[in-house]
Amino acid sequence: MSRGANDQPVLALRGLSKSFGGTRALDHADLELYSGELVGLVGDNGAGKSTLIKTVAGVHPPDAGTVVYQGEECVFRDPLSARLAGIETVYQDLALCDNLTVWQNIFLGREINRGTFRPRPLRLLAKGKMRREANRILTERLGVGTVPIEAHTGALSGGQRQVVALARSEAWEARVFQLDEPTAALSAEASNHVMEVMERLKQRGAAVLIVSHNLPQVIEVTDRIIVMRQGKTICTLNTPETTPELLLGLMTGMILPSDATASTAGNGTGSVPASPGAAPDDGQQREEEL
Ligand SMILES: Nc1ncnc2c1ncn2[C@@H]1O[C@H](COP(=O)(O)OP(=O)(O)OP(=O)(O)O)[C@@H](O)[C@H]1O
Ligand SMILES: [Mg+2]
Repeated sequence: MSRGANDQPVLALRGLSKSFGGTRALDHADLELYSGELVGLVGDNGAGKSTLIKTVAGVHPPDAGTVVYQGEECVFRDPLSARLAGIETVYQDLALCDNLTVWQNIFLGREINRGTFRPRPLRLLAKGKMRREANRILTERLGVGTVPIEAHTGALSGGQRQVVALARSEAWEARVFQLDEPTAALSAEASNHVMEVMERLKQRGAAVLIVSHNLPQVIEVTDRIIVMRQGKTICTLNTPETTPELLLGLMTGMILPSDATASTAGNGTGSVPASPGAAPDDGQQREEEL
């Protein structure tokens, strides 16, 4: 990944906090995403990963902090607003409409709002187009021929539902993709397809944030990895310098972010502290600097 000094992040989170009753799910979380990169977000169960994604996506309003998208501070009041702005999210719990068909789910919200597939007064023509496009996305772009586009998504397997959610992301041609455990329910083959799709999204300039507990897979596909612990983004690492053991240590608190920093300092591409107050290691760009 090469980045010019003047590049601005397409998405930047600054000091994002969110509590549910007494539970502090997000505690001054910082994060930056640039166009054309794939970033992993890892952390133990309950670390706040899904909350972070949902706060960006307009599901949860933040208690404090800002979301800067394409240089402008914004808070999305609902998921459709985020989506229309170009932030597409595949949720861990999916959020498909089970009473709609596969193709209707893929185009849900878009068919009446904007985009190349906006229906003309002749609705039947638009439906035909959406069916064909849904089929093309599934078979050609995702390489999945086993999801019937006329089926109601409530009748699909977990893996098939995940593929529909990803196909929807493809159809929207978003600038930012947030994917929460996109391959957890998939077979090895389908999981590889999903990884290929993410790589293609990145190649066409999208910024992709992937949450996953599959650390070897995260290390295989990402450019950078952000570690969350107890609601905080404690550390950002360049992926080539990570190992599953290092990530696990950071996630569980067995390794301190400053130790991870020290272990990679001096080679010019070391880790970047992500939490406010953490010490910079080697003059690299810090999360909070831009
Ligand atoms: N809607 C909610 N209401 C109340 N508490 C919530 C809600 N959503 C999340 N939490 C709490 O916030 C904390 C962070 O949860 P979150 O789902 O963000 O974690 P996570 O990192 O995604 O975990 P996992 O890896 O298990 O998916 C947890 O303690 C969780 O119980
Ligand atoms: Mg989660």
